[in-house]
Amino acid sequence: MIYADNAATTRMSKTAVEAMLPYLEDCYGNPSSLYALGQKAKEALERARQTVASLIGAEPREILFTSGGSEADNQAIRSAAYLGAAKGKRHIISDPIEHHAVLHTLRKLEKEGFEVTWLPVHENGIVRPEELEAAIRDDTCLVTVMTANNEIGTIQPIRALGRICRDRGVLFHTDAVQAVGHIPVNVKEDNVDLLSASAHKFHGPKGVGFLYARRGVRLQSLIEGGAQERGLRAGTENVGGVVAMAAALEESLCGMEQTTDRLTALRDRLIRGLREIPHSALNGDAARRLPGNVNFCFEGIEGESLLLLLDDKGICASSGSACTSGSLDPSHVLLAIGRVHDVAHGSLRLTLGEDATEAQVDEIIAAVKEVVAHLRSFSPVWRDLCEGKTPFIL
Ligand SMILES: Cc1ncc(COP(=O)(O)O)c(C=O)c1O
Repeated sequence: MIYADNAATTRMSKTAVEAMLPYLEDCYGNPSSLYALGQKAKEALERARQTVASLIGAEPREILFTSGGSEADNQAIRSAAYLGAAKGKRHIISDPIEHHAVLHTLRKLEKEGFEVTWLPVHENGIVRPEELEAAIRDDTCLVTVMTANNEIGTIQPIRALGRICRDRGVLFHTDAVQAVGHIPVNVKEDNVDLLSASAHKFHGPKGVGFLYARRGVRLQSLIEGGAQERGLRAGTENVGGVVAMAAALEESLCGMEQTTDRLTALRDRLIRGLREIPHSALNGDAARRLPGNVNFCFEGIEGESLLLLLDDKGICASSGSACTSGSLDPSHVLLAIGRVHDVAHGSLRLTLGEDATEAQVDEIIAAVKEVVAHLRSFSPVWRDLCEGKTPFIL
């Protein structure tokens, strides 16, 4: 099997599993308990907080453990919005290619009376700092722009966006779920006030993540109950998960530069190979994208069929369409970068892991070429394109 869907989730690393096990088996105490077993768990939790903080340039008290990226996004955005509303500021700026955890939170806030300005991301999927600058108003309380996109892998100019927000006194949140553990992230250097991350995207366990909130940015809790996480996130802590997350993050940052170079070379080999398929196009910026991310549209086919046939060949990939939501709508990300519906339906996302090899990349290229040709051979849409009844777009 070739697993090329690392943006969906990653395999837990051995280091992370090993770090987690003692907190499931022997050191299973509740960190709130006063006896030694509980206090050992509490110490492990705080050590993990220190590790995570130092790896992103933060202080331990600026890290709040959550159930993952979605929760961190919800809490960051709601907290900043309500802080703004308390000062009469109800304007938020974002962009249309955010993850649904951000988009749906913003849609709900719109219903609560907030106004959202959606910055264009242009054909390459990247926000322009000068357009952010122009969109900021006196009543803007929050800018939320993701560090890297989960579908097309584009990397935003976070440092420049954060600088603008800092200069204008506006809080800046970034969903860094696809970035943390894959590209350098430093909250201080990047001028970030709030940042979301998720362990299962960097070889940690599912169901655990963190929210960085710069000291002085007051968070609102989403979950009421006990006083865990300084009263900002009730619920017995996921000690094993948090410890494993810290171990996974530490491991992914070690040797990141070399991994990035190797993965970038493999990614570009994959892009070159898939470009040989007629009437295809790469989605997102060719250079400013995550090292392992490849996203293509192929005219005249359905992404879902492509996925199923690749699965038959032992290749795990993903399509841009919103299959997770059970809808047949094409990806909001592909539409936002200007792909028309028909073309957006024929998309394929391949996200390589650190252990990917040249031989695997070549196998993927051969398999995609074969499957696309096969699907086109009986596609009425493709026939119409070839007969000139409808014009080719790509
Ligand atoms: C960019 C981005 N944000 C948020 C999330 C949600 O993270 P989680 O699955 O940890 O809730 C994801 C997960 O796919 C993501 O890719």
